[in-house]
Amino acid sequence: MLSIALFHSLLFAGLTSAYKSDVLRSFDISYSNSSCPAGLPLSCSNTTVVEDLCCFESPGGVVLLAQFWDYSPGLGPEDAFTIHGLWPDNCDGTYQQFCIPSLEITDARAVLNKFGDEDLLAYMDINWKNGNVTAGDNDLWIHEYNKHGTCYSTINPSCYSNYTEGQQVADFYKLTVATHKQLPTYDWLKEANIVPSTTKNYTSSEIESALSSKFGKKVYISCDSGNNLNEIWYYHHVQGSLLDENFVRIDPVSNSTGCPATGVKYTPKIIATPGSNSTTNTTNGTVEHASLNAAVQVAGNALVYGVSGVAAAFLALL
Ligand SMILES: *[C@@H]1O[C@H](CO)[C@@H](O)[C@H](O)[C@H]1NC(C)=O
Ligand SMILES: *[C@@H]1O[C@H](CO)[C@@H](O)[C@H](O)[C@H]1NC(C)=O
Ligand SMILES: *[C@@H]1O[C@H](CO)[C@@H](O)[C@H](O)[C@H]1NC(C)=O
Ligand SMILES: *[C@@H]1O[C@H](CO)[C@@H](O)[C@H](O)[C@H]1NC(C)=O
Ligand SMILES: *[C@@H]1O[C@H](CO)[C@@H](O)[C@H](O)[C@H]1NC(C)=O
Ligand SMILES: *[C@@H]1O[C@H](CO)[C@@H](O)[C@H](O)[C@H]1NC(C)=O
Ligand SMILES: *[C@@H]1O[C@H](CO)[C@@H](O)[C@H](O)[C@H]1NC(C)=O
Ligand SMILES: *[C@@H]1O[C@H](CO)[C@@H](O)[C@H](O)[C@H]1NC(C)=O
Ligand SMILES: *[C@@H]1O[C@H](CO)[C@@H](O)[C@H](O)[C@H]1NC(C)=O
Repeated sequence: MLSIALFHSLLFAGLTSAYKSDVLRSFDISYSNSSCPAGLPLSCSNTTVVEDLCCFESPGGVVLLAQFWDYSPGLGPEDAFTIHGLWPDNCDGTYQQFCIPSLEITDARAVLNKFGDEDLLAYMDINWKNGNVTAGDNDLWIHEYNKHGTCYSTINPSCYSNYTEGQQVADFYKLTVATHKQLPTYDWLKEANIVPSTTKNYTSSEIESALSSKFGKKVYISCDSGNNLNEIWYYHHVQGSLLDENFVRIDPVSNSTGCPATGVKYTPKIIATPGSNSTTNTTNGTVEHASLNAAVQVAGNALVYGVSGVAAAFLALL
């Protein structure tokens, strides 16, 4: 496993192509090309009206990647934040939603299967989790496309030269995953010695500083009513079509705060004492998800190296 990983990192290190292909090569997925010219204005930065909204994201020119930290029940890998969505906010921070009802879908998994994107699906099964476990992940993916994905002007079906039904939906999920993979929040925090703990608290500013030192701009952090860190939002402007992934990182559009200044809890996803199962033997689902997590962890590591068979085996367990 390690040697395969090393081989992959060496391989990737030798490539100088744009991050679009670097990111997606690990599971051999490509999405549609835009036919947009170079040199277009950055979203939210134009000084005159731009006519071609297939090559200029508008009105949702602020693209934000939102991540979850679902700790109870713990969802996704124990050492990674999961995907919430890729949202097109307006330049002033307000947003539109459910923009084109006729484009709404009822089954995200079916769309991705149609395009043969099994590896992407396997990645999503591990890293894009619905906090409502009963409803299931497909339900969150559907919701994210219908509510937010339909609002992107540059991946409207009319922007495709040889459109196949559902193409923009598949592209939306691929772009979301690609953007998420650029933002390894857990690792960034860990490098600043900010790790999940049941005893230690953090300040908002130490979490924000750790993340903004990596991201290059400020980030928005959110906490639940128990002061537990539960979400991170990363903001971008985009040049040209979303498909070209020319993102420019920006500060959050508003200065609002989502966590208290002090006493922020970063709660571990797996609440267990090593060597003993007693602390995880609760009736509220923690045990179930703690063991599920271990399986996801294994599948997740395998997936990184392209061994999707292991992930598929895991998925069959669900
Ligand atoms: C995008 O363009 C490249 C280079 O022209 C081509 O190889 C690739 O097949 C195109 N991808 C799609 C999905 O059309
Ligand atoms: C930028 O372009 C959008 C889309 O055409 C337009 O709605 C907006 O008014 C433009 N902004 C300026 C300052 O002209
Ligand atoms: C979770 O999803 C189920 C099934 O869709 C739904 O009935 C329930 O209301 C949802 N729960 C919450 C808290 O949204
Ligand atoms: C258009 O897309 C269809 C289905 O993906 C494909 O079979 C066909 O070759 C494409 N045509 C052109 C001109 O690219
Ligand atoms: C956020 O705060 C900074 C520093 O106080 C300020 O310069 C900036 O204009 C504020 N941004 C917004 C959108 O209020
Ligand atoms: C951590 O913060 C919470 C409030 O979020 C507070 O109740 C608790 O006493 C703090 N614990 C420590 C060890 O500082
Ligand atoms: C804890 O649970 C695991 C999985 O159910 C089991 O394999 C292991 O033997 C248990 N350990 C103890 C100390 O009970
Ligand atoms: C876990 O809970 C079950 C059901 O309440 C109980 O029978 C079992 O003894 C508990 N196991 C441990 C290790 O506490
Ligand atoms: C579930 O049980 C764990 C361990 O007792 C506890 O920490 C957690 O807050 C509980 N979660 C819910 C949603 O009740």
